[in-house]
Amino acid sequence: MAAVMKKYITADELKNHDKAGDLWISIQGKGYDVSDWVKDHPGGNFPIMSLACQEVTDAFVAFHPASTWKILHQFFTGYYLKDYHVSEVSKDYRKLVHEFSKMGLFEKKGHIEFVTL
Ligand code: HEM
Repeated sequence: MAAVMKKYITADELKNHDKAGDLWISIQGKGYDVSDWVKDHPGGNFPIMSLACQEVTDAFVAFHPASTWKILHQFFTGYYLKDYHVSEVSKDYRKLVHEFSKMGLFEKKGHIEFVTL
């Protein structure tokens, strides 16, 4: 059986997908086409537009509940980011988020309610 060839995009090529209508981002080294999604994004279009055509894993981790990972696949382009590299700082950050999640610290969303006396 022939081996399935992975398709790659370079960071420079990713930069071509930087505008409304042709908008890609990379999360954990996988290219996602968010051209249509940006209009429906619950966080609005600004956060995605400002990180257009970049590797955005840490921002994605910072702003989303774990359930969001489950809807990502529908935007996958089939392309993997060439030379995807995770910095030591990002590794530490992701490890920390993982540990905090296991402790249940991210289960509730929202702000502390102020009690009027
Ligand atoms: C394919 C990519 C993305 C998907 C599928 C996605 C999906 C979502 C979903 C489902 C929510 C609502 C989460 C909830 O229930 O609280 C959300 C909120 C949000 N997203 Fe994204 N998102 C994407 C990319 C991004 C990027 C790149 C940023 C950049 C920082 C971003 C920033 C935010 C922010 C700021 C919110 C609002 C968070 C809040 O209300 O606390 N998103 N996104």
